[in-house]
Amino acid sequence: MDPQFWHTRWQTNQIGFHEGAPNALLTGHFAALGLTPPGRVFVPLCGKSHDMDWLRAQGFEVLGAELSPLAAAQFFAERGLTPETTASGAHQRLSAAGVTIFVGDLFDLTAPQLGPIDALYDRGAIVALPPTLRARYAPQLLALTSAAPQLVIAFAYDQSKLSGPPFSVTEDELRAHYSATHTLTLAHSYEVPGGMKGACPATESAWLLTPRCA
Ligand SMILES: C[S@@+](CC[C@H](N)C(=O)[O-])C[C@H]1O[C@@H](n2cnc3c(N)ncnc32)[C@H](O)[C@@H]1O
Repeated sequence: MDPQFWHTRWQTNQIGFHEGAPNALLTGHFAALGLTPPGRVFVPLCGKSHDMDWLRAQGFEVLGAELSPLAAAQFFAERGLTPETTASGAHQRLSAAGVTIFVGDLFDLTAPQLGPIDALYDRGAIVALPPTLRARYAPQLLALTSAAPQLVIAFAYDQSKLSGPPFSVTEDELRAHYSATHTLTLAHSYEVPGGMKGACPATESAWLLTPRCA
């Protein structure tokens, strides 16, 4: 996906992916990763998600990565926070009240910038990327987080019926990306009411990824 695609989405407020409350698959299944606060949770492609508030409320420090400066600015402004802003590598680092958002391209982020990570939460992230970028995304996450545990939420549907985003990311694909480093367990799966944008049936699934060496 061209970065401009996402910048335009935020500039024109076409953010139908943004939910008004913490995601039910997050609140229902994150505890199954067995992470005890305090810990540091990475949220790639974070937007201005309320999921970051929920993770913070559980006692975790939240680290996000987001391309759009507007999204990051709105996240803090909507909470009445003025973030401390510093330059960090190719990114701007915005930080307040236990949430830090690295504004810039995820693929330019480095492990030393991010620091140690105890778990990763992927909602609207792997499914936001076309196949060529997903092939780079999974190894980038593994490098950034030393293959930390993950909760991944993904859609699966007939990609020939509709182009993404969100893209279809099947169980087979998740296993291809992560089974060398993680054990994948299906936490929950359901048929999306009305299918994917009314074009075809779709399932949404929450996957727990547990490091093989843990
Ligand atoms: C589908 S939205 C999901 C946002 C959030 N996870 C949520 O659940 O609301 C995908 C987000 O990823 C951001 N994004 C896309 N490509 C990116 C990249 N290469 N690096 C960082 N952020 C990116 C977009 O700006 C957008 O906010």
